[in-house]
Amino acid sequence: MTLTVIGAGYVGLVTAAVFSELGNKVFCLDIDHQKIAGLKRGKVPFFEPSLAEYVKRNIAQKRLYFTTSYKESVPKSQIVIICVGTPPAKNGEADLSYLFSAVEETAKVILRYTLITIKSTIPIGFEQDLAARVKKYAKSNFEFASVPEFLREGTAIQDSLHPDRIVIGTKSPKAQKMLLELHAPIDGKRIICDIRSAQLIKYASNAFLATKVSFANAIATLCEKMAADVTKVMEGVGADRRIGTNYLSPGVGYGGSCLPKDVLAFIALATHFDYEFELLRAVDAVNTGQIESFVNKVKSQLGTLKGRKIAVLGLAFKPNTDDMRDAPSVKIINHLLALGAKVTAYDPQAMENAKKIIPQISYAKDVYDAMRGQDVLLIVTEWPQFSEMDLKQARTLLKNPIIIDGRNLLDPQIVKSHGISYVGIGR
Ligand SMILES: NC(=O)c1ccc[n+]([C@@H]2O[C@H](COP(=O)([O-])OP(=O)(O)OC[C@H]3O[C@@H](n4cnc5c(N)ncnc54)[C@H](O)[C@@H]3O)[C@@H](O)[C@H]2O)c1
Repeated sequence: MTLTVIGAGYVGLVTAAVFSELGNKVFCLDIDHQKIAGLKRGKVPFFEPSLAEYVKRNIAQKRLYFTTSYKESVPKSQIVIICVGTPPAKNGEADLSYLFSAVEETAKVILRYTLITIKSTIPIGFEQDLAARVKKYAKSNFEFASVPEFLREGTAIQDSLHPDRIVIGTKSPKAQKMLLELHAPIDGKRIICDIRSAQLIKYASNAFLATKVSFANAIATLCEKMAADVTKVMEGVGADRRIGTNYLSPGVGYGGSCLPKDVLAFIALATHFDYEFELLRAVDAVNTGQIESFVNKVKSQLGTLKGRKIAVLGLAFKPNTDDMRDAPSVKIINHLLALGAKVTAYDPQAMENAKKIIPQISYAKDVYDAMRGQDVLLIVTEWPQFSEMDLKQARTLLKNPIIIDGRNLLDPQIVKSHGISYVGIGR
């Protein structure tokens, strides 16, 4: 098949790379000229394991093309897959301006039946609005479908090739058949449904994952009050197959470009449909509270933070990505700076992106450079290499041998055996 994937971000570029790898001819379109110029040379604009190899291989095989032109790509495509961002607007609702623009630009150039498939996470009930926008311009027949994306940054290629499920929301058997054919080489359970249900599956899934994280954080808070160990409690809870272990790790809270924004958008969306989503409001409140609770742990170790030197390990919202969108590290660091602390940070991948958001801190060249002469060491992202740090060296380099582990990455007994005080979350 010939496809146009609109938006060369985390979702769009991975989608384009994977569908071209599977033998389709794919145009990947973005309005960002600089990004497209780089991609034409095989330069991937963000860190995602294996993605650069997929991109380079498929450019060389003449299956993957990059463009900024709708006219050059859309008329040749049977399916257009829209993967533009839907960031939060000020009121928490999803900002759909990129989506509207992508849909209208597509409509202006379609010359034959085109299946416009939305992968971006968008609120339920927009298909009529979108159809009206396309009808205004389109000279040909078109149809909308929804195939929400569930990939995780850091394992995006594997998640796309081996998803748990592929949700296909359509209005017609023709659209359903086209999408089943496109996804045929990919394994995973097929969930065939209407467009609204498909969109709701995406919001409900992210809301449930956020609920699991906040639940674990609430239990962690109780563990601290009850002198229990949350890592053992959650190991025991997650061992029940009805519950499962994923997303039950307490910490500084969920972040990233999806969970926080989708929870807020879902609350706003529910209100439009006359439902007060109080459960999700509580999930959001627990998540926000984790930041303050973590900063309070720093205060209780150091007293006043004015002039104190603090090392922060980990800036990305999770390991194996350089994505800083809604990363808890930013909120934590801004809090520490507001209290007069001096921060030195290190992250294996995200420092270039972090410098654009928090330029006022120092950036270290490695883990040990970050901790030299510091009053405390904070772990904010669970990069695996942090768990391998040489604690003997940490003991000598830190001015005050204290580690506050916001991800429960280290073993408290081992840290303490090196003469370093350890504070975790709920243990
Ligand atoms: N990042 C994730 O892990 C993830 C996972 C599942 C779902 N999603 C959803 O997928 C969507 C995309 O997310 P993302 O993280 O890939 O976003 P992103 O910000 O990384 O990428 C969006 C891209 O779209 C481009 N763009 C904007 N308007 C355009 C237009 N009119 N025409 C062409 N290109 C345009 C931007 O330049 C950008 O490169 C969102 O709705 C998000 O909620 C994201």
